Parts: sequence; C-alpha cells; structure tokens
Amino acid sequence: MAKESANDTARGIGPVILLGPPGAGKGTQAKQIVDHYGVPQISTGDLLRDHVARGTELGLEAKSIMARGELVPDELMYGIVATRLREADCQHGFVLDGFPRTAAQAGWLDAFLEKEVFENGSENNPERCPPVVIQLLVDYTQLLLRLTGRRSCPTCGRLYNIHFQPPLVDELCDVDGSKLVIRDDDREEVISERLAAYETQTKPVADYYRVQRRLIAINADRPKEDVTAQIFGVIDRHCRAGC
Ligand code: AP5
Repeated sequence: MAKESANDTARGIGPVILLGPPGAGKGTQAKQIVDHYGVPQISTGDLLRDHVARGTELGLEAKSIMARGELVPDELMYGIVATRLREADCQHGFVLDGFPRTAAQAGWLDAFLEKEVFENGSENNPERCPPVVIQLLVDYTQLLLRLTGRRSCPTCGRLYNIHFQPPLVDELCDVDGSKLVIRDDDREEVISERLAAYETQTKPVADYYRVQRRLIAINADRPKEDVTAQIFGVIDRHCRAGC
C-alpha cells in the first residue's frame, strides 16, 4: 500500500485533504502527491477494500454497504482512520483521499488532529499545520466517463481509463503486465448511488471547510498533469505561508 512510499526524507507538508465526488481524481492526484512529497496516501476506500478482501469483521460489515454505493457508518470509520494516522510514516504529513466524507467526520478529524498530532509537535513542526483542503470540481458527465472507464492494476495499483488514459496493450498493466480489473462499485446502478451519497452527505463537508476559510476549490476537469501542477502550487503556497 501507499505506506511504503513514505520515507525519512519526506518534506513536511502537514495534512492534505482531497475532497471531491467519485471519479473526481482524488486517488490519481493523491498518488502524484505521494511521489512528489514522499508522504503517505490514506485512502479510506482502499483501507475498507483491504478489510473486505481479508474478511475481517469490519470488512464483512462494510462489504454490502459499499456494494450498494452507500457510506459506511461514521463510527466504523473513526477506528481505522485513527489507527492509520497514528503510524510513524504520517509524522511529516499525509494525504487523505476519501475522508472526511460527512460533516461529522470533518469535526471528528479536527478534534483528532488537535489532540493527537498538534500536541506532539514543537512550534515550528509541520505536524502543527492545519490541513489544506483541496476540492476537485468535475462536470457530472465527465465523472460518469471516468468511473465507467476506470481500470486498475491488481498488482501495483496503477490507475487507467479506457477513454482518457488507456494502457499500451489493451486490458494489461504497462508496468507489470497484470490483467486490469474493474472495481465492483463501478457498475452504473451503483455509480448513481455513490454520486447521490456525495450530493447529500459529502457536499456539506465542503461547506464545513468553506466557513472556516480553509477550502480551495480547483477545476479538475482538465488534463491530469495540469491538475497536479495546480495542486502542488496550492500545497507549496500553504507551506511557504507557514501553513
Ligand atoms: P472510494 O474508494 O473513496 O471511492 P470514491 O470516493 O467513490 O472515489 P473514487 O475512487 O471512485 O474516485 P477518485 O476521485 O479517487 O478518482 P480516480 O483518481 O480513481 O470509496 C469507495 C466506497 O468506500 C464508498 O462508496 C463508501 O462506501 C466507502 N467509503 C470510503 N471512504 C468512506 C468514508 N470516509 N466514510 C464512509 N464510507 C466510505 O479517477 C477515476 C478515473 O478517472 C480513473 O480511471 C482515472 O484514470 C481517471 N482520471 C483521473 N483524473 C483524470 C483527468 N484529469 N482526466 C481524465 N481522466 C482522469
């Protein structure tokens, strides 16, 4: 998982939160941040899918909820996020992809960062940075194309899209030749449920951060590289400003 990508030379950037609907490019951009800054990606979707694959108690509970395109209850999310954020590789910062997803989760995260991370840093420590919150805005039709066209490598996790970023050889990973797979919840009927859950439950998260003047919205309906460049600019400015 992304954990291996973090290293001791990671640049302290504090917490970065990527907000956006399913298919907005949160996972794609999180991987660019991992490569550039050396901080780990914390994808709650990946953490949950790992629990499902291992058949843990949480995984068994989450499996049918995820298959319907609904959100897993907040109380189940807090434990896995807290456990992951307490791991040593998060000390220089981390990029959250898929969390927080409800206003309650956003409030919980603020309290968690205040108590668990902020108190551990010295005055100049990057751990003291409040999160930079970047919202990825993408047109609805584009989201549908991105989700129905998504393919991923089961071995290395690399993402493709048959419409926009196809592999060199049809259905095979460019890196290791594995046969690409379609995510279970990328079926059209589930996609519409996921987008509905975003509208009702996750949009208030953007409002939560907007009120606190922490939300930076960017147009993510552009080539991946252009979006990445803008995100790096936001993070660099945030760090230069002392977070
Ligand atoms: P999760 O895994 O978080 O899925 P999601 O939010 O629906 O987001 P996606 O992974 O589908 O999209 P993305 O924004 O990462 O886009 P990507 O980069 O892959 O959650 C899955 C489920 O887990 C939820 O439904 C819920 O049940 C549960 N869950 C997770 N977190 C939870 C939480 N906090 N609370 C409760 N429940 C939770 O890109 C998509 C495609 O577009 C790819 O093919 C990519 O190659 C392509 N693409 C990306 N960028 C571009 C671009 N600029 N131009 C063209 N194509 C692009």
